[in-house]
Amino acid sequence: DHLPVFLRELPKCEHHLHIEGTLSPELLFKLATKNSITLPSDDPAFASPATLKARYENFTSLDDFLHYYFIGFKVLINASDFEALTYDYIQNAASQSVKHAEIFFDPQAHTERGISYDTLISGLKAAKTRAAAAFPDMSIEFIPCLVRHLPVPSAHTMLEEILSAGHFHDGTVIGFGMSSTEKNMHPSLFTSVYKAAQEAGIKNLTAHYGEEGPASYMEAAIEQLSVVRVDHGRRVIEDPSLVARLAESKLMLTLCPVSNVKLRGVSQIEDLPIRELLDKGVRFSINSDDPAYFGADILGNYQAVQLAFDLTIPEWESIALGSIEGSWCTEARKQELR
Ligand code: HPA
Ligand code: ZN
Repeated sequence: DHLPVFLRELPKCEHHLHIEGTLSPELLFKLATKNSITLPSDDPAFASPATLKARYENFTSLDDFLHYYFIGFKVLINASDFEALTYDYIQNAASQSVKHAEIFFDPQAHTERGISYDTLISGLKAAKTRAAAAFPDMSIEFIPCLVRHLPVPSAHTMLEEILSAGHFHDGTVIGFGMSSTEKNMHPSLFTSVYKAAQEAGIKNLTAHYGEEGPASYMEAAIEQLSVVRVDHGRRVIEDPSLVARLAESKLMLTLCPVSNVKLRGVSQIEDLPIRELLDKGVRFSINSDDPAYFGADILGNYQAVQLAFDLTIPEWESIALGSIEGSWCTEARKQELR
C-alpha cells in the first residue's frame, strides 16, 4: 500500500521550493489581467490557462521549462502578488504537515525587469507574518538564489543589496543559493560571488547542481564554492567516490523527484538513486521544486517516491529525521522538530 495517511502526517521539511514555481496557469492569467501584462501572442500555449497547463505536460529539458518559468515572473508586480503566492504555498504545505520550509526566490530576475528587491521581500515577509499567526508550529525561511543566465556582476549587485539591507544578519534570509540553467555553467564561473558571501559571514551556502550537469559540477561546487548542501544532486550516483564523501560528511541533497521526470532527467521515478542513497547513508530531503509547473506538491512527491520504491516506515522516518538535521534552523528548533 502507499501509506497515504502516514505520508500526509509525517512531519516534513521542505528545502527546495521556488516561490515563483508555485504560480499556477490560472493565477498567471488572473494577475496578467489585474496588472495589465501582455502575454506572448506568438506562442499558442498562452491562449488560455488550459493550453498553458497542457504545454507544461511536455517540457523537454530544464531550459525549456525555464523559458516558461521566467515568462511567468512578468505578471508578478506588487508586494501583494508575492504575498499571495507565498501565503498560498504555506497554507497548502501546512495541510501536508510541512513543519519547516526554506523558500527560494530569484531576486535578479525581478530587479532586472524593474521590480525592486524591497517590493519582493516585503511581500514574502508579509506572508510569513500572517503564517506565524495561522500556523504557529511551522517555521518559514527565505533563501535568495543567484540566477546563472545573468552576468556575474548582476549577482554581486544582488548580494550587495541584500547585505546592505542587513537581511543576512537579521534573519530575513537564512542562506544563499544558485539556480537557473546548468549546462556549461561550471561552478568556477561563480567563485567570486560565493567568496564575497563567505567573507560577509554567510555559511549557509547551496547551489543547484547535478540536475542536468555531471557529478563533477557537484564536486566543484563543494570544493570551489564551499556549499554545504546541493540542490538536486541526483547525478552524484555516477561518482561512487563522491557518494562515499557525501555519506561521510552528511552534506544534504535536496532531491525533487517529480521535477526530474517532468524535465526528462530520468524517464521515471524508479530511475532515481533513492534506494542507493538510503543504503549508502547519503542524507537527502524530498521536495517539490516548482509544483505549479510539475503538477506535484510535496506530498505528491513523497507519494510518487513511495509508489516507486515501496519504502518502509523506518526508512521514511530516517528520511524525515535527515531532513530535520540538514535544515538551516537553530539547534533549539531542530529539537522541537525531532
Ligand atoms: N533548476 C534550475 N533552476 C530552477 C529550477 C530548477 O530545478 N527551478 C526553478 N529554477
Ligand atoms: Zn530548483
